[in-house]
Amino acid sequence: MSPVTVRVPAKVNLQLVVGSARADGFHDLATVYHAVSIFDDVTALPGDHLTVSVEGEGAETVPTDDSNLAVVAARSLADHLGIEPHAHLHVHKAIPVAAGMAGGSADAAGALLALDRLWDARLDRHELVELAAAVGSDVPFALVGHTAMGLGRGEKLTPVLARGHFHWVFAFAETGLPTPEVYTELDRLRAASVLPEPRVSDALMSALRAGNAVALGAALGNDMQRAAVSLRPGLAMTLDVGDEYGALGALVSGSGPTCAFLARDDEHALDLAVALTASGTCRTVTSAVGPVGGARVVDA
Ligand code: C5P
Repeated sequence: MSPVTVRVPAKVNLQLVVGSARADGFHDLATVYHAVSIFDDVTALPGDHLTVSVEGEGAETVPTDDSNLAVVAARSLADHLGIEPHAHLHVHKAIPVAAGMAGGSADAAGALLALDRLWDARLDRHELVELAAAVGSDVPFALVGHTAMGLGRGEKLTPVLARGHFHWVFAFAETGLPTPEVYTELDRLRAASVLPEPRVSDALMSALRAGNAVALGAALGNDMQRAAVSLRPGLAMTLDVGDEYGALGALVSGSGPTCAFLARDDEHALDLAVALTASGTCRTVTSAVGPVGGARVVDA
């Protein structure tokens, strides 16, 4: 059995419309996921037990016990196959941790695909996506990538037609925000509201179909943003820098605290990155393009 390495992209939600809390504690939502060129690499190697090691961006904050999402994914795949989960997983992170970019979900998706190959299970895509949904709401999208609509708690995916490529700049924050806390804050802020069934806008879909970055910038939106900014008021300053330097759109990515900025082209992305770095309102800045494909084997 030779090692298998899988590369998995981060995501930004182009629109994230959050409905009411459900009886199971999750929220119904309507979202458009968009995979961007920031990648974690997950390598599966033969092992006597199930172990995980992590290096790279934020590695020191990632648990290496049974709560690690790659380990959760490995156990669920082994259970499904009726085998013992013997393997070592090594995760090289570039996606920031607890940042609203589905880094943990990417690692889970990477573990599923890498172990599927290491253990020579060769499940079909549909089976892997079903296992992924049980591990976490954003895990199926990390497998599928590109641009896709997510319904239910985010796990029910349909592909979205998107033309061309978009240029993004991401401002990473000093520390992460736990997703459940952001949902709780959103519920608190909206306690008095009656919420309609969540749906994404036609304007967003037509901007993507046309590959029109200006229209896309105008259609971006995230219900979680007000909750993330309420928990981290400094994020408003980071978003303002993007507006000041002509970003076509600026929003919090997922549950935050990463801020995402849509640029006109790669030169404008560089200008935005320089301005954000100089502003001192974030820890570090990265440029990326989207959409990119989902989890894929890069070395086996
Ligand atoms: O599915 P995932 O494990 O990523 O979700 C993490 C947490 O985020 C959940 O336990 C829940 O508190 C919250 N969540 C939610 N509604 C969703 C997705 C996640 O309330 N649609």
